[in-house]
Amino acid sequence: MALPNLWRLYNLRSSPFFQATLRQDSEVTPLSLFVGRRNERQQLLNAIGGSRSSRQAVAGRPGIGKTTLVQAVKADALAAGYWTSAEIIPITADLTSEDLIGQLLAGAFDAVLASCPQASGSAVEAAQQLVRTIRLRGGGFTVSAAGFGAGGTSTQAVSSPPGALLLDGPRVLRDLLVFALEQGASGVVLHLNNLENLSEADATRAADLLRSIRDQALLLDGLHLIVVGTTDAVRTVVQSHTQVRSVFSDPVGLDPLAPKEVHQLLEARYRSLRLEPDLPVQAPVQGEVIDALHELFRGDLRGLLKALEDGISALLGLTGDGEGPQPIGLADLTLVLSRRYKLEWLDQLGTTLWQRLEAWGERDVQAVLTQADLVKLWEIKQPSVSQTLQQLVHSGAADVLPRRGGEPLQYLLTGATRLALSRR
Ligand SMILES: Nc1ncnc2c1ncn2[C@@H]1O[C@H](COP(=O)(O)OP(=O)(O)OP(=O)(O)O)[C@@H](O)[C@H]1O
Ligand SMILES: [Mg+2]
Repeated sequence: MALPNLWRLYNLRSSPFFQATLRQDSEVTPLSLFVGRRNERQQLLNAIGGSRSSRQAVAGRPGIGKTTLVQAVKADALAAGYWTSAEIIPITADLTSEDLIGQLLAGAFDAVLASCPQASGSAVEAAQQLVRTIRLRGGGFTVSAAGFGAGGTSTQAVSSPPGALLLDGPRVLRDLLVFALEQGASGVVLHLNNLENLSEADATRAADLLRSIRDQALLLDGLHLIVVGTTDAVRTVVQSHTQVRSVFSDPVGLDPLAPKEVHQLLEARYRSLRLEPDLPVQAPVQGEVIDALHELFRGDLRGLLKALEDGISALLGLTGDGEGPQPIGLADLTLVLSRRYKLEWLDQLGTTLWQRLEAWGERDVQAVLTQADLVKLWEIKQPSVSQTLQQLVHSGAADVLPRRGGEPLQYLLTGATRLALSRR
């Protein structure tokens, strides 16, 4: 049973506040909705074009637009003759070097099939076999849209003993890259996402991982790698070993979009989701709401979009039908969101952690605090503070600022928590 489309009231086909990344192969979230980031986009593309293989990192806070930027760069690279796919290689906490080589191989295979669906020959078949093994074992990301159509060996069963990938993977990857170059590709561009998943679990192991596959995989001719992560994750993983740092270009750090660009982002979505082409879209919120949320979320677009979607759908549910809706103002939106997010945090974190957030909010929702400050505020011991913060950051209730030299880490409340704590 389809839910009634509340957004119809605004002459919209569906929610303009979706939080998915934009993709070159998507009709629902197309890259034509991309705004801004011109310099970063050009810089990343230039580095790809500048040599036979490249390694770059994109760093920035959660939700600021890292993944989407790389999607745009891959589309630029595709237009410039590189092979790539809209698939994103996810990084998980328990990734081993064998897995990582497998992921790179699977990503390269997807890129080859996306640009050359008829690809065949020994290099492609060897890659196909290994990739199928990886995916049967549960590794690799979502099975590519192109499927396993290549090469004509699709019924062959393969079993590979553990460790085989480490032995064969780099060679198979190299041969696949050679194949792509021979077929006229300028190179293959791969996108490794969310480095922080790895570094939060074990920073040292995370840093060792890239080093361990550097020569066999990262430096292969024709491979262009973009890794994405929070600022600290990029620093930990990419910049702590000289051998890794020396083969990466300087990380591209993302600042929040300008307020004007956030308005453009939403207007582009309103235009593309318009239901009746002859009628205008009614903006669901007042312009000042966007600016206020953008500031509250400190550039976290995912948080901002989710707040708009949550708040407006709740308010629409309340108003029922009737005449055309008025753009929603800040006071109404804050009211519904503070109720809703408070319940969500309580549910997710439990009473004790919620009370700690409340104590923080009573001090000042904007306060930037160190662990020492919080020992005093919460009147608990340092190890408990540290553990609490880990939980809060992990669940997205608090955020940690990028480390500065030897200074103690600084923490602050995220937009969703500030909303939950706001009262009128
Ligand atoms: N430059 C942009 N133009 C248009 N939309 C964007 C842009 N950047 C981000 N968005 C939108 O903002 C949302 C969040 O972006 P994205 O997922 O890329 O952030 P992220 O930094 O990768 O987040 P996370 O830290 O959660 O991985 C998505 O819905 C995306 O479509
Ligand atoms: Mg992302």
